[in-house]
Amino acid sequence: MDRHVISAEQFDRKRIEMLCEHASTIRVNVQRQKTHYMGDLTGKFIIPLFYEPSTRTRMSFQIAAHLCGMTIPAGTENAREFSSAVKGETLEDTIGVLGGYHPDVIVLRHHEEGAAMRAVQALKDHGLDTAIINAGDGKGEHPTQALLDVYTISEEFEHQIDGLHVVFGGDLKYGRTVHSLTRVLAKFDRVSMSFVAPEELQIGEDIRQLLDQREISYTMETNPQKVLGEADVVYWTRVQKERMDPKLYDEIEREGTYHIGVAEVQKMKTSARILHPLPRVKEIDTKIDQDPRAAYFRQAQNGLYVRMALLRELLSISA
Ligand code: NCD
Repeated sequence: MDRHVISAEQFDRKRIEMLCEHASTIRVNVQRQKTHYMGDLTGKFIIPLFYEPSTRTRMSFQIAAHLCGMTIPAGTENAREFSSAVKGETLEDTIGVLGGYHPDVIVLRHHEEGAAMRAVQALKDHGLDTAIINAGDGKGEHPTQALLDVYTISEEFEHQIDGLHVVFGGDLKYGRTVHSLTRVLAKFDRVSMSFVAPEELQIGEDIRQLLDQREISYTMETNPQKVLGEADVVYWTRVQKERMDPKLYDEIEREGTYHIGVAEVQKMKTSARILHPLPRVKEIDTKIDQDPRAAYFRQAQNGLYVRMALLRELLSISA
């Protein structure tokens, strides 16, 4: 098994299913008794190193580490301002230094695609054995989000992912969660996908090639109304304002096409589920939050259990 978590591609179906099972056991135990896993990873520690804003990913990793008995002796939620990056230090040097303090895991979020891979290389160059977990690298990937997404789908659909139709909507070009989730879902059988986005924000050639290779059927649309009624899973995303030309962002916002509200939900199957990695801005109306199909808060909560399962797996403790 890989020591590091860089891409969702690293997870085969068997490993995903084992992690999901492990996360379910953890969920039951944590809900019953918060201290159940305390002590299991005692003596191990984690450094969260975040160069981009984060609420869920950072906090759920920190809480997951804590509930597994790990410590979080140091870290930063704003390395872009409060680390030596400001002085011009490279990511490679920062990782080389932090790795030397013997953390078991560095959870890294960075604004540049490929940053997590660069961090792995820096550790190798320094002969260090810390594990890197990619918590989002620019518009690249967000593999642990994909794990909690697939766990949520599995839980919401009674462990039956094969054959589902998943509609991805919003910003499919810069939204890294979609890049990772498509890679994970492509490991299941007869899954089909629709990509709904303005042309400028459509899913990239790399993902389309991968789906072609795996013989996964997919369509691309600009109009959400065409596909919402067919979806089992509607995976909606935020337009990634920070990664694009402000003019394009304003234009897309003004049109308001990529918005899920009461009318859109009425078109969906009663068995459908709406997922969103969060944070949402205006693309999902709060009026639908109480609809049983809205699964995004359950999804965010699942992040805790899945990250506990992942930390335990990486540091070699089974369920
Ligand atoms: C996502 C991210 O950072 O890519 N957030 C998250 O981790 N749940 C999605 C986003 O920021 O739009």
